[in-house]
Amino acid sequence: MQPAPVAAGMQRHSMRVAEREPERLARRMPRMRRDIPRRRLNEHEAPPANTIAFRAMPYRRRTAVAEPLARRVAFKSTRRGNGVASRARAAAGSPERLARRVRTQPPCQARRATGARSDVKTARQSGIRSGVDNLLYYGDNLDVLRRYVADESVDVVYADPPFKSDQNYNVLFKERDGQRAASQIRAFEDTWTWDQEDEAVYAQLVTQGGRIADALEAFRKFVGPCDMLSYLVMMAPRLIECRRVLKKTGSMYLHCDLAACHYLKMLMDAVFGPENFRNQITWKRTFAHGNVSRNYGSISDILLFYSKGDAFTWNQPFKVLSEAETERKYPHTDPNGRRWQSVTLRNPGQRPNLHYPYTASNGVTYQPHPNGWSCNLERMQKYDQEGRLHFPAKPGGALRLKMYADESPGERLQNIWDDIPPIGAQAAERLGYPTQKPEALLERIIRASSAEGDMVLDPFCGCGTAVVVAQKLKRQWIGIDITHLAITLMKERLKDTFGESAAFKVVGEPVSLPDAAALAASDPYQFQWWSLGLVGARPVEGKKGADKGIDGKIVFQGESVGKFESVIISVKAGGVTVSQLRDLCHVVDREKASIGVFISMQDTTEPMRMEAVTAGFYESQAWGKQYPKIQLLTVADLLAGKQIDMPPIRQVNATFKKAPKAEAVQGEEQRLGL
Ligand SMILES: C[S@@+](CC[C@H](N)C(=O)[O-])C[C@H]1O[C@@H](n2cnc3c(N)ncnc32)[C@H](O)[C@@H]1O
Repeated sequence: MQPAPVAAGMQRHSMRVAEREPERLARRMPRMRRDIPRRRLNEHEAPPANTIAFRAMPYRRRTAVAEPLARRVAFKSTRRGNGVASRARAAAGSPERLARRVRTQPPCQARRATGARSDVKTARQSGIRSGVDNLLYYGDNLDVLRRYVADESVDVVYADPPFKSDQNYNVLFKERDGQRAASQIRAFEDTWTWDQEDEAVYAQLVTQGGRIADALEAFRKFVGPCDMLSYLVMMAPRLIECRRVLKKTGSMYLHCDLAACHYLKMLMDAVFGPENFRNQITWKRTFAHGNVSRNYGSISDILLFYSKGDAFTWNQPFKVLSEAETERKYPHTDPNGRRWQSVTLRNPGQRPNLHYPYTASNGVTYQPHPNGWSCNLERMQKYDQEGRLHFPAKPGGALRLKMYADESPGERLQNIWDDIPPIGAQAAERLGYPTQKPEALLERIIRASSAEGDMVLDPFCGCGTAVVVAQKLKRQWIGIDITHLAITLMKERLKDTFGESAAFKVVGEPVSLPDAAALAASDPYQFQWWSLGLVGARPVEGKKGADKGIDGKIVFQGESVGKFESVIISVKAGGVTVSQLRDLCHVVDREKASIGVFISMQDTTEPMRMEAVTAGFYESQAWGKQYPKIQLLTVADLLAGKQIDMPPIRQVNATFKKAPKAEAVQGEEQRLGL
C-alpha cells in the first residue's frame, strides 16, 4: 500500500472528512499524532510510491470560457530564467509489507508504519527525484511533503488551508440534469479543539527552539490552550515543510481570512523570517452584502506573500486599465484618437549635465527645472521629431512629455485586488466544491512568481484550482489533498479540462487488493469515495429519507431527451451477506432505479449471485440491449478494469459540475473537426 497517509486514515480529528454518526465516530481510528517523533523505520520499510499512471480521456463537451476580468493583467518578467524542478522519487520498499503492517497492527502502530514522519527517511535526506512532472497525492500534506518532496524543488507554493472558520464545508451535488440533489456530502471540517495531541506537538515544536518556538509560546501565553492554538499548532509544521521545499528563488502565498490571518502572519514571520515578508494582499472575494449588523461587511480574504530569500522570481504584473480608468488617466486625445497624458521632463535628482536650454520645433526656447531635464539633448530632439513634446499653453510654462495609453502595459498591480470576482453561480468554472477559488486568482499568482516549466505546489488543493491553472500555464505541479473526494474530483477536472494532454500520476490511491483492504479497514468512508470514483459515481452522504441505503449514484440520459435514469450503488467495505444485497434490491425498486450495483471488498457468495441473477434486466430501447438489473462488482474486478454494464453514456462523476475544457484543447478538437 502506498503512501501511508492513505491506509492509515491520517486525518486529524479536527479535519474529519465526513459527517459521521457518533457511533461511527467512536469506531474511527484514534487520531493521528501529527508531529511527534516515533520509532524510526528502516529505510526499506518506507512505502514506495505506487502510482496510478493516469491519462485523461478526451472530453466531448464544448464550453466557452469567458475571458475573466483578471486576465487583463499583463506581466513583465524581471528575473531569472526557468528553473528545472527537482522532486522526490518514491522511496523504495515493499507495498505488500506495508499493507501487512497496516492490516495486522493496531491502528496506532499501523499509522506509525505508514505515517511519513520524521522517522522515515525523507525526500530531503535521500535526495530522490521523481521522473514524473505532475503528481497528485492523496494523503496528509505533512506526511506527503516530508516523504516525497525534496528540498528546494518547488518554485511557488500556494496554500489554501482550512481558515479556522469553525465551519464544516458541504459539497452540494448536482444531478446530471442540473437539478440540485437533496443530498450533500461533507467535504472537510474546519473545527478545532485543543487536546493532548496538540499538547504533544506543541511540546515538540517548542523544544526545538528558535523563532517558531518563540512564536508558539507567545501565542500560548496570549490565547491560551484553545482552538486557535490547536489550529496554529497544526499549521506550524506544514509551513516549515513548505519553506523547506521551496527553492532559494521560490515564494509562498498563504491564503487565509480574518479568522486567523494575524496569527498566521506572525507564524509565517517565524518560519520565513520577517525580512522575507513581501506583502499582504487583500482580495475582494465577494460583493457587498447586507447580512451584517453593527459591523462592517467582511468581503475580503488575505494572501500572505513571502519569498524564501531576496532573489525571488518576479514577473511584474500590471493591471490593464478599464476604459473609464484610461480616460481618467489619459485625458488628452490626439487627432488620430490616441489617448495620452503629459508627464514631467524634470529630473528627480540634481543633474547639472542635463541642464541645457532647449529650442523646440515650435521655435520657443524652454529652460529646464533647476534639477535638469530628465533626458539628454539627443533624446529630447527625438521626442520632438516624434511629436511627443507637449508645449505649454502659457508662456513660461513647463515643457512636458506625452505618454500614450496604448504604449503602457497598464498600472503596476497593487496589493488590493478587487478585479477578480467570486465564482458566480452560473460560472463555467464553478464545480460545486466548497471554498473553490477562481482560476483568475491563481493565474495571477502563478504568473507573477514562476516561469514556464517551474514547479507549483498546492498542499491543500481541494478541487485543484492551482493545479489546473499551473497546467494551463505550462508549469509542473504537485497537488495534495487528504480526501478521496477531492482527488476524484481533481482527476475528473483535469480530464475534462485538458483531455489527454495533461499527464499526471496519482499517488496514494489503492492500486492493489492489499491497498484497498487497508483503506477499507482504516477508513470506510474514504474507501467508499475511492471505489465510487472508480465507477464514475458520485457519493451520497447522509442517507436519510430518499437516499437511505444508497452510497452512490450515477444519473444518465434515459430513453428520451430530458428523461434521466439512475444507477444506485451500495459499497461494502466489510463482510457481505445476501440480506445486504436484498436491501439494495429493495432500494432499487423503491427508487425506480434502472440498475443497482453492489460493490464489495470481499468476494460475493453463491446465494448473492443467485439473488442478482433472479433480479432480471433493465432493457434499453434506445440501445436495443439488456443490462443486468443487479450487478455485483468486487474491488478486485474494479482494479482489473471491470465497469458497470450500463448504456454507453459517459459515466462521469456527477457529483460536481464538469470543468470547462481548456482553450488549447478546444482549439485542437476544432482543428480535428471533433
Ligand atoms: C480551503 S480548501 C482548498 C480549496 C482549493 N484552493 C480550491 O480552489 O479548490 C482546503 C482543502 O484542504 C484539504 N486539507 C485539509 N487538511 C489537509 C491536510 N492535512 N493535508 C492535505 N489536505 C488537507 C481539505 O480536504 C480541502 O480540500
